[in-house]
Amino acid sequence: MRRARIVGFGSYLPARRLSNDELAGRIDTSDEWIRQRTGIRARHIAAEGETTSMIATRAAEAALAHAGLKPADIDLIVLATATPDYTFPAVATQVQANLGITHGAAFDLAAVCSGFVFALATAEKFVVSGSARRALVIGAETFSRILDWEDRTTCVLFGDGGGAVVIEGYEAAGTRADQGILTTHLRSDGRHREKLYVDGGPSSTMTTGHLRMEGREVFKHAVGMITDVIVDAFAATGYSAETIDWFVPHQANQRIITASAEKLGIAPEKVVLTVGEHGNTSAASIPLALDTAVKDGRIRPGHVVLIEAMGGGFTWGSALFRV
Ligand code: UT7
Repeated sequence: MRRARIVGFGSYLPARRLSNDELAGRIDTSDEWIRQRTGIRARHIAAEGETTSMIATRAAEAALAHAGLKPADIDLIVLATATPDYTFPAVATQVQANLGITHGAAFDLAAVCSGFVFALATAEKFVVSGSARRALVIGAETFSRILDWEDRTTCVLFGDGGGAVVIEGYEAAGTRADQGILTTHLRSDGRHREKLYVDGGPSSTMTTGHLRMEGREVFKHAVGMITDVIVDAFAATGYSAETIDWFVPHQANQRIITASAEKLGIAPEKVVLTVGEHGNTSAASIPLALDTAVKDGRIRPGHVVLIEAMGGGFTWGSALFRV
């Protein structure tokens, strides 16, 4: 059977690091509160004029270099973002142009914090069906631009960044020992819109709006939703908390991650945590964390990796792959 395997990882963080202490100098918060409630110590913030498409392009270039491929080798770009440069065109087409690609297709996908899992699952279908040979799957965000910097309940949580992977199709044996994406599980439930949303948009207010979140409500749903789709991934593949090598969750809050891992029986040493230095970068958080763990030598060829995310919509999903 045909499968999609990941052949390159890349990421990019804006240079500017904003610490909790700096934030505490501007609004009524403290390093202690932020660290205790979320595990976040700092986040990166895009420079003036540094857009999502620029961040995405840097991450894509890094993933291509890691794969030893040229832009011409790519015939599909699926980019997840909730913070596009413009209402349209899609950021993906800007990345395509920046990379000098003039063939194939490029489009954006909106699933907020679950965006990377949705984009990976979507690109996988194109690659496995033979519609595309190699795809760039990108998550890139500039959440700093949609934060209400006066609202301490949200502005301390998010950061900017981008991550990317390159996937390619190949003929696999069709067993769980195969390299590549072994299963994906996507879910959504639009009844939860008001718990996490942006209060503006072209068709409603004709403004960009600001992120609004009922944090405690989101927290309440998160662990159950996350563990449900992970149980589905285990059931579909026969892998388990014991037999996976790495758990790379969406990085929203260390307490959510720890509670999910504990509920599933995933050992703490298998959990890749980057929320401390990145904050919540929405669709960028998983590919940023994947690249971090690949480049520091934790995730190696042959390893089985489980990813999951949950976010606005609500949307949530999981994927399990062997590197
Ligand atoms: O990626 C998308 C998914 N998003 C998430 O997963 C986020 C999920 N939610 C969370 O991570 C947590 O709910 C938060 C980190 C947002 C908040 O933690 P919490 O333990 O649920 O705190 P809370 O909202 O219940 O607030 C507790 C207290 C409140 O004060 P009172 O009412 O108890 O006096 C807040 O006003 O903490 C106060 N507070 C703050 N204090 C200092 C809220 N934000 C801050 C702050 N600094 N930044």
